[in-house]
Amino acid sequence: MATVALSSIAKAFGTTKVLGGVDLDIADGEFLTLVGPSGCGKSTLIRIIAGLEQQDSGSVAIGGNGVDYLRPHERRVAMVFQSYALYPHMSVRANIALPLMMARLKLWQRLPLLRLLSGQRRKAMAGIMTDVDAVAAQLQLGHLLDRKPAQLSGGQRQRVALGRAMVRSPDVFLMDEPLSNLDAKLRVHMRTELAELHKRLGATFIYVTHDQVEAMTMSDRVAMMDSGAILQLGTPSQLYEKPASLKVAQFIGSPAINLLPATVGTAGRLELFGRPMALAVARAAGQAVTLGIRAEALTLVHGEPAGAGRAWFSARLRRKENLGSEYILHFDLAGRDAAGVTMRASPAIAAGVNEAAEVTLGFDEAASHIFDADGDRLEPRGQGSLRASVVPLRA
Ligand SMILES: Nc1ncnc2c1ncn2[C@@H]1O[C@H](COP(=O)(O)OP(=O)(O)OP(=O)(O)O)[C@@H](O)[C@H]1O
Ligand SMILES: [Mg+2]
Repeated sequence: MATVALSSIAKAFGTTKVLGGVDLDIADGEFLTLVGPSGCGKSTLIRIIAGLEQQDSGSVAIGGNGVDYLRPHERRVAMVFQSYALYPHMSVRANIALPLMMARLKLWQRLPLLRLLSGQRRKAMAGIMTDVDAVAAQLQLGHLLDRKPAQLSGGQRQRVALGRAMVRSPDVFLMDEPLSNLDAKLRVHMRTELAELHKRLGATFIYVTHDQVEAMTMSDRVAMMDSGAILQLGTPSQLYEKPASLKVAQFIGSPAINLLPATVGTAGRLELFGRPMALAVARAAGQAVTLGIRAEALTLVHGEPAGAGRAWFSARLRRKENLGSEYILHFDLAGRDAAGVTMRASPAIAAGVNEAAEVTLGFDEAASHIFDADGDRLEPRGQGSLRASVVPLRA
């Protein structure tokens, strides 16, 4: 069993507070990703789990046992780094075998001359090589075992680093941005490989990245961190569909969520650019809120922009971004005190929008996210009736 439980982990480097009491329970066999902006403390946290860094307070338990006094190699965890940290003078085979040699051979059996004399050593080495071959076969490295790291591609090097982590069958894999040195295409490919490896091994994976796409595509759950704290913990779709704060909403999703300023009017009803919406919140009139609208929630409105529970505003096309299968349309909000917005569109729809033409964009109010002035998520009031009013027709 390899649950990982963190309780109140705090860490400072000198006077810089890096982690402010992190609690996190990771299930056995889970793929959990720590995601967040640079410097938020992800590497520090994963290094504390590995035992490479000592926390100031709080505790780490793996498989239900406290490991705070265990050294890294005693924790049954394996770490994979961004820089593959392979030994350049050693073959792939020797690189993968190294952790097993350290674990299974006595010191004198590793010495150059004495080792030749030992039958015991030969037997241990045969066992090690069997295990290395098995791991190499799993990672499709069999034909590369005699090469040196310099003779491998980036993706192959990363697989060797994975192999070196796998060979000791750890209960927990700790990975700190393992794909960030790879080019875009290989990164996409390795995402699938890692997800499949996780399924095959059934081990617990704790994965660090600042790439929200990696977090969204591979993980069972994502912990979004900022300034040494976990802002939200949930499945990828929970973070995407119900971001608990403006920071989470802005970090998760590409293109980034559109943000529009709105105010609370009478009876809590929101007003967007001076027009009342159907959405209402339990806040006093006059308060400023931010509406978050995903790029796929926006549509072009032709003719009358009416409809209960539908909001709209006018915009001017600035740029079309062609992604092949779809376009991202960038609009300016002419004369508005707001940044532009982006909208996903099919090539056919994109073809119908002319540069600099003024258009009307609309969205389902129920699909928008509301955040108060502190950036906390607000749930709309009477959402039931609003939902009912936007359901078009019951067949
Ligand atoms: N050994 C150290 N000594 C002093 N400060 C450190 C040390 N290690 C990390 N820090 C600081 O702690 C903070 C968190 O660093 P950490 O490496 O955990 O961030 P991160 O989330 O992994 O960022 P990135 O995405 O850039 O890798 C940063 O401000 C960093 O400068
Ligand atoms: Mg880091």
